Amino acid sequence: MKFHVISFGCQMNANDSDWLVRALESRGWTETPEEQASVFIVNTCSVREKPEQKVYSLLGRLEQYARRDGGVFAAVGGCVAQQVGRGFFERFSFVRLVFGTDAVALAPEALERLAQSPDERLALLDFLPTYAEREDPAPKAGGPAQAFVNIMQGCDNFCTYCIVPYVRGRQKSRQPGAVLAECRGLAARGVREITLLGQNVNSFGLDRGGAGVSFAQLLRQVAAIPGVERLRFTTSHPKDIADEVIAAFGELENLCPALHLPLQSGSDAILKRMGRRYDTARYLDIVERLQRARPGISLSTDLIVGFPGETDADFEATLRMVERVGFESSFSFKYSDRPGVAAVRMEPKIDEETAAARLEHLQNLQNTLTKDCLEKCVGTQTVVLIEGPSRKQDAGAPSLRGRDPAGRTVNVTLDGGADLTGKMVPVRLVEAKKHSLVGEKAGASW
Ligand code: 5AD
Ligand code: SF4
Repeated sequence: MKFHVISFGCQMNANDSDWLVRALESRGWTETPEEQASVFIVNTCSVREKPEQKVYSLLGRLEQYARRDGGVFAAVGGCVAQQVGRGFFERFSFVRLVFGTDAVALAPEALERLAQSPDERLALLDFLPTYAEREDPAPKAGGPAQAFVNIMQGCDNFCTYCIVPYVRGRQKSRQPGAVLAECRGLAARGVREITLLGQNVNSFGLDRGGAGVSFAQLLRQVAAIPGVERLRFTTSHPKDIADEVIAAFGELENLCPALHLPLQSGSDAILKRMGRRYDTARYLDIVERLQRARPGISLSTDLIVGFPGETDADFEATLRMVERVGFESSFSFKYSDRPGVAAVRMEPKIDEETAAARLEHLQNLQNTLTKDCLEKCVGTQTVVLIEGPSRKQDAGAPSLRGRDPAGRTVNVTLDGGADLTGKMVPVRLVEAKKHSLVGEKAGASW
């Protein structure tokens, strides 16, 4: 069967989609461009309004293929599938499978079955009490030097704006042994950078799935695997980050000097209404301790503007916090009501115009902070893990794209045409662009 996967949303979704591709390929299916596919797999995200709307417009567009060829069908997975469930069958006649966030492991088999029985439809929407291990299909030969490893699923926090606990279910840690086995396997086939993934990785092990192993312990065990040269993790909740995890930034050399730590708001009143269970003083204390453990650590964050009841003063407090921490980058969003969450009932709602103006203001501030951070790097030397050719190739010297230890994108100009993908390359940084750096080879080691 020829299939095409379209993925929205977070890195966990991207990772699930990668796995689906490998699992289907190991069953003899072939990934193709959209126009040639008989089966579409849409992995959806409902965390904010925009990605959810994108799912519906995409399915509306894909329906044309099914109108032309009655054998074409679609499967919808992920958070919107969990939320809307069988509703997709009514909205789109060519959707024949909906699979929720705990059913990814079952999707390849379900797809095989549906390909053979054209009259059938299937909904796999149950939440499972524990993390569902998946088969481990053969990796693609010569795959990238970076990999993502899921360590948990779901979230128990119920921040008042967030749909995640409803669509991904309660927190379920994966068995530490399974995490370590996957990481060892990746390192053995040449992966040099691993990112541990979960909605709230710092509370790994606090449910029964973690077998009594804390996140700090898991981090140390993964860091000790030979061949793991770079280790990252995301996402962290400030209220759950343990002293041992902060200390690990000072102790584990291969733990990268970067942390994504969602702040959401710089107003204590709004943080309270968001149900975040930390205040700005506690957040600043964590930042200080991180900076002490690993001077120069690069911090990034998520921010919401226009949360119900957010005043001008609340918003200004966010601007001040962002400036004070000096985030290197941030993702910022306008609040949107998500079905069933507590903030839907909170008033007053902020009008669209005010929220849009606040977002723009915040993003302008962030752009100047990002620029400052990148400019500070110019003139220093670093090591770049090369991911492939740069997106934009200037006429003349070819250029490669990679990341420095903090995760900054670096484009490296080359004299020769050697394929350095997957290699660690010493680089001198010579220029700061808006969101990336430009580097040149340093020394004679390559
Ligand atoms: N409205 C706007 N942004 C949201 N996020 C989560 N829920 C909402 C919502 N209802 C943002 C948060 C979170 C990121 C993944 O998405 O900032 O950290
Ligand atoms: Fe959503 Fe809060 Fe859980 Fe993050 S910690 S997934 S924002 S409920």
